[in-house]
Amino acid sequence: MAARVIDGKAVAAAVKERIKVDLAPFEEEAGRVPGLATVLVGEDPASEVYVGMKIKACEEVGIRSIHRQPDAGIRQEELEGLVAELNADEAVDGILVQLPLPDHLDSDRIVATIDPRKDVDGLTPVNAGLLAHGTPGLTPCTPAGVMELLAHEGVELEGAEVVVVGRSKLVGVPVARLLLLANATVTTCHSRTRDLDAVCARADVLVAAVGVPRLLGAAAVKPGAVVIDVGVNRLEGGLVGDVDFEAAAEVAAAITPVPGGVGPMTIAMLLHNTLQAARGRTGHSS
Ligand code: GUN
Repeated sequence: MAARVIDGKAVAAAVKERIKVDLAPFEEEAGRVPGLATVLVGEDPASEVYVGMKIKACEEVGIRSIHRQPDAGIRQEELEGLVAELNADEAVDGILVQLPLPDHLDSDRIVATIDPRKDVDGLTPVNAGLLAHGTPGLTPCTPAGVMELLAHEGVELEGAEVVVVGRSKLVGVPVARLLLLANATVTTCHSRTRDLDAVCARADVLVAAVGVPRLLGAAAVKPGAVVIDVGVNRLEGGLVGDVDFEAAAEVAAAITPVPGGVGPMTIAMLLHNTLQAARGRTGHSS
């Protein structure tokens, strides 16, 4: 294997240490710690694991977590009412509604009811609009984590060819926007892209966020490229990314593993956003 493996766990740990340090002056000035509300509808095992990791990370750094877990059968208006309660709760600085929601619920409408100042996922139309305008408010956690990893690795983005595979609201669209704001030349690929491998092979930085196990192999990687794999796909043998790690690592200069790459960064940036939201709401700069 030629590529350097990018250690997302280590970078996330460093981000968490920074947050711990930054929390102390906030607590002193505000007289309380920030609070993050997690909302998980139903008992989907994978979502329970993810939300459990978010709650544990809050505990680790000293953010208060408030968890709500209504039944899978909750009606749209009831869930909107729950979000309204959390919007009105002064002790809640951030609200995260874990996605996906059961099919009978309209996720976009639920997310749109979150107070944009508490939208630590950066998914409300207000925060998505601010990002589109180039003046980000709260930034989606996974894209922010990708940017943090690239910065930590010292990857020069100015003028670089970056290819993003995937166009989801959660990752593909916002990460492409952040990369453009960093002055990269950004191409977004999706299911209708012709000759995907050839487009990807132009990339100095390849970001895979499409949710197809091992879609991208050696032919999609330019020699010396940096490969960021956002995919988390559950196969019988365990978790795999959107990139065929072994094949791509023969060609790339650096690559994130799955698990242990982007995943830990998503949680670290959620904590970062919660502190940012708390500062924004209370007017405390520290
Ligand atoms: N489901 C998978 N990733 C995420 C995320 O970053 N935020 C939310 N709210 N749900 C998710």
